[in-house]
Amino acid sequence: MQTRHREKTVFDTPHLEYKAISVDPLNPVIGAEIGGVDLSKPLSPEQERELRAAQAAHHVLIFRDQVLTGEDHKRFARLWGRLHVHPYHVKNTAPEHARAAADDKAPFPPGDPEVLVVKADQKSRFVAGEGWHTDVSCDAEPPMGSMLYITQTPEIGGGDTMYLSTVRAYEALSDTMKEFVGKLTATHDGAKPYTGGYGTAAPEGGWPKTVHPVVITIPWSGKKALYINRGFTTRINELGRKESDAMLELLWNHIESNYEFQCRVRWKPNTLVFWDNWCTQHHAVWDYYPYSRYGQRVSIVNGRPGAR
Ligand code: SIN
Repeated sequence: MQTRHREKTVFDTPHLEYKAISVDPLNPVIGAEIGGVDLSKPLSPEQERELRAAQAAHHVLIFRDQVLTGEDHKRFARLWGRLHVHPYHVKNTAPEHARAAADDKAPFPPGDPEVLVVKADQKSRFVAGEGWHTDVSCDAEPPMGSMLYITQTPEIGGGDTMYLSTVRAYEALSDTMKEFVGKLTATHDGAKPYTGGYGTAAPEGGWPKTVHPVVITIPWSGKKALYINRGFTTRINELGRKESDAMLELLWNHIESNYEFQCRVRWKPNTLVFWDNWCTQHHAVWDYYPYSRYGQRVSIVNGRPGAR
């Protein structure tokens, strides 16, 4: 068997000893099941401090057997920042929104602008998030995290969500490539998924479009992460068009095809997953048609992802 050089991983840093919560990692890179927390009640200061440490270390936190109201869900999310309003809700006011929803072209049904309904059934032509992406990276202040609360899973099984660590993806690059990509910026354009993917007409003024650094530093861990995703990123600005296309393909292939950067969450009803959007990507697996799956997602805004 070939011996591989083992590079430094996020788990080479010493870990907090948890006392107020339990943390059961899915693997050494990404994902942990969290116990000892009832999200329908306010957290103690110790629980909150330990959850922040767990988020910085594991990026994807899984909370089982939670019976939550919409307000419980939002209260937990607000601990990390203000609630995000999806550009779809900002831009597509009725009657255009209502028309799009009726036409089944709305990526998300209308309703509370701070809540995205994530729903699939036998009438669905597509599901939200089927493809590797980071949520709404086209926004000037893209969500630092999202919390999806699933209450219905397909009777036949399936409907998992895959996650990957873009911290680990960055760390696995060669030093030469790290130096190169560290100088780059990329454009993230909402038109790519919302019009190109879902077929939703662009609103007046267009979808949000923003330039972010290709390599960002995660404020709560000090780690660097690759911040480009197939869902929203359209261009590396410092390169020619063909160079940009080739470089994005190379980096996406590196990010998406290494199983050791990934974990997979198997949902059960009443599971809430909190993922860090700045240092992960996710992919909803739609392997359960025509069965149904239902949940609600709240996302959190807390500044811009920066290079340092
Ligand atoms: C999403 O937020 O992209 C959807 C994730 C999922 O449905 O698992």
